[in-house]
Amino acid sequence: METNNQKNLNPMKITYFDDSSKMSAFASLMVLNELRKKQYLLIAAATGGSPEGLYQMLEKRYQFDPELFEKLRVLKLDEWGGIPMSDPGSCHSYLNEKVLKPLHVSSDRYLAFDSAAPDPAEECRRIQEEIDHTGPIDCCILGLGKNGHIGFNEPASILQSDCHVAKLSAETIDHPLVQAMSQTPSFGMTVGMKGIMQSKKILLLITGSGKQEAIKKLMEKEISTQLPASFLWLHGDVECLIDKTSC
Ligand code: F6R
Repeated sequence: METNNQKNLNPMKITYFDDSSKMSAFASLMVLNELRKKQYLLIAAATGGSPEGLYQMLEKRYQFDPELFEKLRVLKLDEWGGIPMSDPGSCHSYLNEKVLKPLHVSSDRYLAFDSAAPDPAEECRRIQEEIDHTGPIDCCILGLGKNGHIGFNEPASILQSDCHVAKLSAETIDHPLVQAMSQTPSFGMTVGMKGIMQSKKILLLITGSGKQEAIKKLMEKEISTQLPASFLWLHGDVECLIDKTSC
C-alpha cells in the first residue's frame, strides 16, 4: 500500500480564478472528489472568509446527496482562546453554522478545541493525541493570513510542530471574526505545523483584501518561519487556489 511518504512529491499547484465564487466551486469539486474516494474523510476546517464559499457549495451538494456526508469527520483547525464557545465570533459558532449543521456532522465526528478550556495547554495536548490516534488529516482546508499565517501558526523565529497555544499577532486580532466578539481573545489554539504538513492533501484558499504582500512573498518560494505558509512548498500535494482580485 502506498503511504504518504512514498508518494511522488509534486510542487504546490497554483491556480488563479477570476473571482472567489469560481475558486470556491473548484475547491468544492476537490473536496467532493476526496469524499467519494473515502467516506470517512477527516477534513481540517479553517474558518473566516476564504473557505466560506466552499462550505456553501458543500451545503448545496448535501441537498442532493446527503449519504455522501454521512461519515465525514471534521477537525476544527483552530480556535480563539479565553472566549465562550457560544460567542458569535468563535470558530465553533462559525463551523456550527456553516459546516456542522448544514452537513449534519454529529458530535462524535467533530473534533474541536474548547475555547474556554481551563487549561489551554492541556486542551492542545488532548487534540494532538486525538490527531495522532485518528489522523492524519486527509484534507486540510487552509486560508492565508495577511501576515502569512496558516491556522494560528504565526510568523516567529520558530514554529511549533504540535497543537499549541498561540500568541496572536496584532494583525490576527484585527480579523473580522474578532470584531464580532463580545470580548477580545487573549490567545489562540491551533493545529501545529506537523498536523498540517502530515495532511494527505492541502487546499490553500486565498481570497480577501490585504494579502498582496503575503501572496507575493509566498510566490518567492523561500521557506521562512516568518511566513509559515511558505512551508507548504515542502509538501507533496498542495492545491493553492487564488482569487485574482486578492493579488
Ligand atoms: C481561521 C484560520 C486563519 C484564516 C486566515 C485567513 O480559522 O485558520 O488562518 O484562515 O486568517 O482568514 P480569512 O479567510 O478570513 O481572510
